[in-house]
Amino acid sequence: MTMLELRQLSKSYNGRPVLDRLSWAFQAGEFVSIMGDSGVGKSTLLNLIAGLDTPDANGGSPIIVDGIPMSGLDDDAATRLRRARMGFIFQAFHVLPHLTLLQNVALPLLLNGLPTQRAAEMLEAVGLGCREHDFPHQISGGQMQRVAIARALVHRPALVLADEPTGNLDPDTADAILTLLQREIKATGACAIMVTHSQHAAKKTDKILHLSSTGLKETTIVNPFAQ
Ligand SMILES: Nc1ncnc2c1ncn2[C@@H]1O[C@H](COP(=O)(O)OP(=O)(O)OP(=O)(O)O)[C@@H](O)[C@H]1O
Ligand SMILES: [Mg+2]
Repeated sequence: MTMLELRQLSKSYNGRPVLDRLSWAFQAGEFVSIMGDSGVGKSTLLNLIAGLDTPDANGGSPIIVDGIPMSGLDDDAATRLRRARMGFIFQAFHVLPHLTLLQNVALPLLLNGLPTQRAAEMLEAVGLGCREHDFPHQISGGQMQRVAIARALVHRPALVLADEPTGNLDPDTADAILTLLQREIKATGACAIMVTHSQHAAKKTDKILHLSSTGLKETTIVNPFAQ
C-alpha cells in the first residue's frame, strides 16, 4: 500500500529550482533513507512532505499522504493530518524545556486524545525509562535526540520523517535507535523516510534513494567518501 506519493514535485526559491519534478511512491512498512550532497534539497523535501513549506504549483497534487492530497487541505486540516499521522525527528522540533521527558513524549498522545500509557514504554524503549521525571536541561544532546525519537513514534504515526536522526549519537546508540525505528515501522505498518549522510545508517534501511539535481534514484552504492 502506498503511504506517500510524490507526483512531479517541484520547489524553487526566488526562481532558483531546488527540486525539479520529483516522483516516487513510498510504501507502508518501508524504511527508506535519502542520501545526497549537502544543499541538494533533502531537508527541503522533508519540509514539503511535512507541510511546513509549500511546493511550486503544478496544476495537480504533488504530495499525497495516505491517499490524501495535501494541496487540498486548509491550514487546520493540514495541522490535524500532521498531528495524527506524522512523526518528526527534526532538529527544529525541539523538546519543550518546561515539560519533563515523560510529558514531552506524551504530548502527541494528548494532542490526539489518546491514552498516555505508551509514553513511558517509549521512553523505556529508548533507554531513558529511569529519567522520565527529569527535565530536558538535565540530559545530554544525544539523550535529547532519543526523547525526540520516542515522541515522534509514540502515537504510531503512518509516516515518520527524520532528518539526520542519529547525527549526534555515538555508533552504539545510533544502531539501537535505528533498530528501534525499524521495529516500530514493521510493527505499525508505518513508512519512515530518513535523510542521512551516514552510509552505516543508510545500510540499515530497506532502500536507499539518492537525491541529485536529476531527481530521486534507488541505489545500493553509497558515497564511498561519506563517514
Ligand atoms: N527558505 C529558503 N529560502 C531560500 N533558499 C532556501 C530555503 N531553504 C533552503 N534553501 C536552499 O535550498 C537548497 C537546498 O537546501 P536543503 O537544506 O534542502 O539542503 P540539504 O540537502 O538538506 O543539505 P544538507 O545535507 O547540508 O542538510 C540550498 O541551496 C538552500 O540554500
Ligand atoms: Mg539538510
